[in-house]
Amino acid sequence: MQALHDVLPGGPAFAVRDPAFLADVLEGLSRPQKTLPAKYFYDLEGSRLFEEITRLPEYYPTRTELSILRGRTEDLARLSRPGLAVVEFGSGSSEKIRALLRALPEVAAYVPVDVSGEFVRAEAARLRADRPDLEVVPAIGDFTKELDLPPEIRARPLLGFFPGSTIGNFEPEEAGRLLRHFAALLGPGASLLVGVDLVKPDSILNPAYDDAAGVTARFNLNLLRRANRELGADFDLRGFAHRAFFNRPMSRIEMHLVSLRGQEVHLGGRILRFAEGETIHTENSYKYRPADFEALARRSGWLPETMLTDPAGLFALFALRAG
Ligand code: AVJ
Repeated sequence: MQALHDVLPGGPAFAVRDPAFLADVLEGLSRPQKTLPAKYFYDLEGSRLFEEITRLPEYYPTRTELSILRGRTEDLARLSRPGLAVVEFGSGSSEKIRALLRALPEVAAYVPVDVSGEFVRAEAARLRADRPDLEVVPAIGDFTKELDLPPEIRARPLLGFFPGSTIGNFEPEEAGRLLRHFAALLGPGASLLVGVDLVKPDSILNPAYDDAAGVTARFNLNLLRRANRELGADFDLRGFAHRAFFNRPMSRIEMHLVSLRGQEVHLGGRILRFAEGETIHTENSYKYRPADFEALARRSGWLPETMLTDPAGLFALFALRAG
């Protein structure tokens, strides 16, 4: 193996900002099927590109979920309890939480849980300005890990909110563990409203992840751009292409970056080799049939109560009760 100074004369000219990113990239790219964790999509540029994705004509999930939250207010109001606290897992779009809070007349507190303290605090300030009566109590942390709710929140009836079909990024087994974790955190008597993307024809699924304007391609390639910027890698962005397709047997959209030729990439003092046509698997986005998601919920500490969908049955919000 080549030494670091052969690759980067004088050693790294920058400090690696996130050592976990370097370790995860090296580990993922050493596997027989190279992978990169999807969570690294969301740097500043990646978050901006995802916002752009949500407005694409082909990308139905965001606008469909929002239409359900805005349209099914009577069904959502059944989740309301006096003094209710809504705990949102991850910093979703403010439009979704606003629509949900509007449907819940008795909501007293809102707890956004997110790793990005800055983002959560800015959102919290905006919501407070809007709804002076609402107690906004941000919790900074990773919602997949141990997390303590403030005692004044614990004492309230709780509704967890996990929109965006973020659950689709997890392997079904992991998704089950996450649902169990939410059940333990929220406790008996709590409810959970979770957004789930549904199985549908390829003709709708594939364009949603491979749009005509190429925004999703830029979003996918931004992972390599980020590795270049933050880790000093030398990925040639013209040497890789975006590929996305629905893997029906696995019931998931897969996103890959395909190496367009045999090539070497330098990273962290190592040489990574790519064969022509070899791919880096960058994301899974699982799609569920309603009965399969309900079975997963039941196995994971929840009783399915209601499924709210749009008229075309593209997307679902499942209301679950801890049981
Ligand atoms: C944010 C995980 C819900 O899977 O649809 C969008 C991410 N990736 N286009 C999804 C995504 C490519 C998105 N989630």
